[in-house]
Amino acid sequence: MLRVLKRKTRSFIHYRSVQRFGVLSLGSAREVQPRVDATIQAFDSSNMAIDQDLNLIKGRPIDWSRRWSRRHISYVAFLDKEPLGYLWIGFDGWHVMDSDPSFPLPAGAAFLYDAITRTEWRGNRIYPAMISRAACDLRRRGFAELYLLADQSNGAAIAAPRHAGFRFSSYEIRLHRAFMIFRWRTTRPPALTATS
Ligand SMILES: CC(C)(COP(=O)(O)OP(=O)(O)OC[C@H]1O[C@@H](n2cnc3c(N)ncnc32)[C@H](O)[C@@H]1OP(=O)(O)O)[C@@H](O)C(=O)NCCC(=O)NCCS
Repeated sequence: MLRVLKRKTRSFIHYRSVQRFGVLSLGSAREVQPRVDATIQAFDSSNMAIDQDLNLIKGRPIDWSRRWSRRHISYVAFLDKEPLGYLWIGFDGWHVMDSDPSFPLPAGAAFLYDAITRTEWRGNRIYPAMISRAACDLRRRGFAELYLLADQSNGAAIAAPRHAGFRFSSYEIRLHRAFMIFRWRTTRPPALTATS
């Protein structure tokens, strides 16, 4: 009993996660068509009347203003007018959670984060199709690489980007946070090089 209590208390206090870096070389990004007739649109700070749709996909209201003010771009998939999923692209650094500090990106690289497909639409290659559309735009703008972090235990978050050409670095970053006491302790990877 005491051991169970101790374990529960520990897991309440600590959050540990092993993340893997994904790298997409934009020159070799694959074109992916979703399995449903979805269209993908880009939204930025000049065209951001999309917050309600983003909230619907997320499942709760979020203050998106910080992302817009940092000039991040949201790619949103729609079936007619119904929003199915989104992902975000940032240019000013990579981070684990929105609230965490950003680490600098190398020149020519962008960062993909916070991708979601609504539960009932998962498995339709919507996430890889959004990556494919974002990759095409970024390549046109002169970017060379796109990075992302995926939790190692999240099979879909690793499998879906692979469909769009992402390769995952063997380098893992281990994150550890003591609830309410410490913030993330993030180790910067030595090099963002894809190996598999
Ligand atoms: C991760 C996520 C965005 C994928 O979106 P999606 O639009 O359903 O992507 P896909 O249609 O390509 O489906 C995921 C792929 O992973 C595969 N997959 C699912 N679970 C898997 C697992 N545990 N191990 C390996 N592969 C898995 C699916 O079979 C599918 O591949 P397939 O088309 O060859 O069958 C979606 O699952 C999601 O919103 N998850 C919650 C949020 C999240 O975890 N985001 C992660 C990034 S921050």
